[in-house]
Amino acid sequence: MKIEGCIPLITGANRGIGEALVHELLKRGAAKVYACARNPELLEALTASYPDRVIPLRLDVTKPEQAEAAASQAIDVNLLINNAGVTHNGVTLLNDAAIANMREELEVNVFGILNMFRAFQNVLGHNDGAIANILSGVAIQHNPMCGTYSCSKAAALSMTQGMRAVLRERNTLVAAVIVGVVDTRMTKDLPSNLVKSTPQLVAAAIVDGLERNEEDIDTDPGSIAIRARVGRDPKKAERHNDYRLPPLPPLKPLK
Ligand SMILES: NC(=O)c1ccc[n+]([C@@H]2O[C@H](COP(=O)([O-])OP(=O)(O)OC[C@H]3O[C@@H](n4cnc5c(N)ncnc54)[C@H](OP(=O)(O)O)[C@@H]3O)[C@@H](O)[C@H]2O)c1
Repeated sequence: MKIEGCIPLITGANRGIGEALVHELLKRGAAKVYACARNPELLEALTASYPDRVIPLRLDVTKPEQAEAAASQAIDVNLLINNAGVTHNGVTLLNDAAIANMREELEVNVFGILNMFRAFQNVLGHNDGAIANILSGVAIQHNPMCGTYSCSKAAALSMTQGMRAVLRERNTLVAAVIVGVVDTRMTKDLPSNLVKSTPQLVAAAIVDGLERNEEDIDTDPGSIAIRARVGRDPKKAERHNDYRLPPLPPLKPLK
């Protein structure tokens, strides 16, 4: 797709990768950007930097009525970037919090994208638009140390393929963006020896991939390494992070 002159709408644009995408798209010639946040006050620095080109919108992606309201207002959008996301790092499927964590992650990382897709598909159809869903390497290689998050991103990858299928007749580009570890608030508690990419590098790679009409965009050395590992030996890749797992709790006696 052509980035120059495009009109993106980005969810979770107030920090991290979303904020970096706003800067990158404007630098590359986007006409304007709808920057969305649960709390629009957090977008003040962006609107002050680009008073005529950043339009702030209040949007909690888990609320379908807010997604619909955004679609009624932003009828000129031709690029929907589903970036908003939450994670619970360091939690295995056996953790006491696993069920509550997974519900929260599914609500934002899966149902949030579905809400936005359903609200915006008509606008995007009118504007020959594209969609980019910001996923993660854990969508293609489960990481048991963020077990519930991995499940949510794998579900979102499957949903991305479904979106592509249902919109194929319209030739809508639906990109699955696979991201490795990035230096944002989401990863602040991860071990300090982990190599993190910058949000700026990832944002630039996403825009490059969209410009090349790529359906699968691997943004950084981490995601490229995961893709290669899974391609080389999927069973070995499945066990790649097992060494991080805590010891299993002792078995309880059977009653
Ligand atoms: N950082 C990484 O290593 C990494 C790796 C792979 C994939 N990703 C993905 O990249 C995307 C961006 O993450 P990030 O690293 O930039 O994390 P971040 O700095 O934690 O930003 C997350 C953004 O999502 C927003 N958000 C959360 N729940 C929301 C909701 N219900 N409605 C609307 N917005 C909501 C947050 O808004 P508030 O300020 O209101 O909380 C924030 O703007 C996510 O989808 C994440 O899963 C990140």
